Amino acid sequence: MNILVVGSGGREHSICWLIKKSPIVKKLYCLPGNAGIDEIAICLPEEDPANDSIIKICKKLNIELVVIGPEAYLANGLADALLKEKIKVFGPNKSASLLESSKSFTKDLCLKNNIPTAKYKTFSQKSNAKKYLEKQKYPIVIKADGLASGKGVIIAKSIKESFIAIDQLFDGKYGDAGKTIVIEEFLEGIEASFFAISDGNVIKPFSTAQDYKRAYDNNEGPNTGGMGAFSPARNIDKDLEKKIMNLIISPTFNALKDKGITYKGILYAGLMIKDNSPKLIEYNVRFGDPECQVILPRLKSDIVSIMIAVCDGKLDEIKIEWLEISSLIVIMATKGYPNKYPLNTTINGLENIISKESIIFHSGTKLVNKEIKSNGGRVLGITSLASTLDIAREKSYKSIEKISWPNGFYRKDIGNF
Ligand code: AMP
Ligand code: GLY
Repeated sequence: MNILVVGSGGREHSICWLIKKSPIVKKLYCLPGNAGIDEIAICLPEEDPANDSIIKICKKLNIELVVIGPEAYLANGLADALLKEKIKVFGPNKSASLLESSKSFTKDLCLKNNIPTAKYKTFSQKSNAKKYLEKQKYPIVIKADGLASGKGVIIAKSIKESFIAIDQLFDGKYGDAGKTIVIEEFLEGIEASFFAISDGNVIKPFSTAQDYKRAYDNNEGPNTGGMGAFSPARNIDKDLEKKIMNLIISPTFNALKDKGITYKGILYAGLMIKDNSPKLIEYNVRFGDPECQVILPRLKSDIVSIMIAVCDGKLDEIKIEWLEISSLIVIMATKGYPNKYPLNTTINGLENIISKESIIFHSGTKLVNKEIKSNGGRVLGITSLASTLDIAREKSYKSIEKISWPNGFYRKDIGNF
């Protein structure tokens, strides 16, 4: 089977890395990919991200399965367009993607179905939002309703900070994503990333991870896409997994069904857990990045068979098995990220990392005259697998020391808490 993976991050690198191991894959393509993906798949230049152009490519290359990584393509209806052309696609359709592309859609769905989440209110007028904020307790959380590349969430510690956030959102800092905003209660507890997988008929758990979102050590600094992760999460045992499925995931899946929306693909719930009680922070309709880079290396079953079963509505016939190991990733980002940072800085020493020790997943790199150059904020991820989390952590940090990249930085405390 010819397979196309859409995206260019570390998540897509790990998806390609695992697909490549499957006996089912004939030719593996990635659109557009990066320098790391280029070593294992045929990378295609992304001349035009429109659905029509991607379909043309699929037809030309006899692509039988498309795996969509980033949310933007899903929110733009790429899955719907592919299905219309009878091309198998792993990733939900546009209506199901509302779970990520509209926070108010998700919050309303939670409220109607008693799904535990932070109390909230939605606003589309600045003055009303400010009036409301004058009477609230702090900290409080302010969110752009639409997609804002993980940056549209502000935790305001005071009324002054909340007003600055409101001004920025309504004055267009996140474009149309901030035209409507959600203001919600600040939840305390420990966060975890919970993944489920569905073929439209059934929904099953698909492992867990803990993500480190802040830029600097001790969870300080601005929020990022994720600076490191490990899997499985420490705080989710079998009982809690059942509780999460019963209280959050299955009611969401059923509520979508009631609305006539079929969910197929990965459903990623960002959770806050306190006293063994989970609350939903947000949904994503895709794998997390960097969670994917620690979850997929633990998968024992064939990924392509699972993806095909999802497309064909036959997930019930498939057993999803995991290796009994821990995995951990440390992300290397360009100094300055998540704010302004330079591109095209040179990275050396990747060849010194032994594959038995760690896997290098490229997030934002490109090959220029045989040199690896940085091409984004998050640039590399070093994943290690081991019998314990401590050993996996040690392996990743040892491997990182072999990389020479003066413009890069990374957190030193991934997996410590
Ligand atoms: P989101 O994009 O909704 O995942 O939010 C990004 C990050 O902001 C989350 O991973 C949390 O760390 C934090 N966050 C979002 N909503 C809340 C909340 N209601 N209470 C506490 N922290 C939150
Ligand atoms: N690591 C968080 C995300 O992928 O949204």
